[in-house]
Amino acid sequence: MAAGSIGNIREEVARIETLGTLPKVMTRIMDLVRDPEADALDLAQAISRDPALTLKLLRLVNSAAYGLHRRIMTVPDAVVVLGFDEVERLALSITVIDCLGLDRDSVKLTRQLWRHSLACSVACSVFELRYVTLMPNLRGAHVAGLLHDIGKAVLMQHFPNVYAGALQLAEADAYGICEAEQEVLDGYTHADVGRWVAEQWDLPHALAEAIGGHHEPDIDTIDEPLAHVTHIVDALCNTFGIHSGPGTSGEDINPKSIAMLPIDDDLAAAVRAQLNRHKNLISAVSAGAMF
Ligand SMILES: [Fe+2]
Ligand SMILES: [Fe+2]
Repeated sequence: MAAGSIGNIREEVARIETLGTLPKVMTRIMDLVRDPEADALDLAQAISRDPALTLKLLRLVNSAAYGLHRRIMTVPDAVVVLGFDEVERLALSITVIDCLGLDRDSVKLTRQLWRHSLACSVACSVFELRYVTLMPNLRGAHVAGLLHDIGKAVLMQHFPNVYAGALQLAEADAYGICEAEQEVLDGYTHADVGRWVAEQWDLPHALAEAIGGHHEPDIDTIDEPLAHVTHIVDALCNTFGIHSGPGTSGEDINPKSIAMLPIDDDLAAAVRAQLNRHKNLISAVSAGAMF
């Protein structure tokens, strides 16, 4: 196949061997996310069973970019100092990045993408906290935030020539990223690719819907709070300048999403405060500390 062209994109994604199955540790962590009975010890044990993950996690939280003032020697120690959600977010990010085969030489755009994904995850946690009692289906929203653009990571990593064409179109400002992707991917977008990967990994249906629907949360087949919250935080983070690349600004928040998850001043302030609180982590990712 000539560089810059693509056959059946869905089949080609299904053939990527490194995406074949989700690593066991990630499945275990995902189960803990959805289990209200799970505690910090369960999480620490799940992570500690994977020495490579443990090593990377400790290296990241002790990196200069992360900016902690004390040294963290063990995973349980990390859970105590950083909290359940933060450690879980880091463990999932490291595992997904590993699974996608990204490394320290990853291009600036990939780092930008994961910086955006972590910021969306942090922002999702704020909505989760506010609305989960009313909408229990919002449990795990921070995972949806983290993974929502996974299709983009797959396209950048495995179809760089084709994807460069989409980025060029988006950079020319004539297109939003989804339209640009549709031009070069037979009408599909990174959201579709992300949904296929989520299905291939047997992720929960609601999560696959959130990933597949984060740019179009109002289409008939999608009625998932997770899709709506992911759509909202994606737009918010883009507005705050923590975007995932060309063609990502200017997407309006869907009225149906706002109706489901109203944003008042307190909520908007809490999102900003949490992003600010996590700015070291977000800049550590930009600096490549996670790869
Ligand atoms: Fe997206
Ligand atoms: Fe995004």
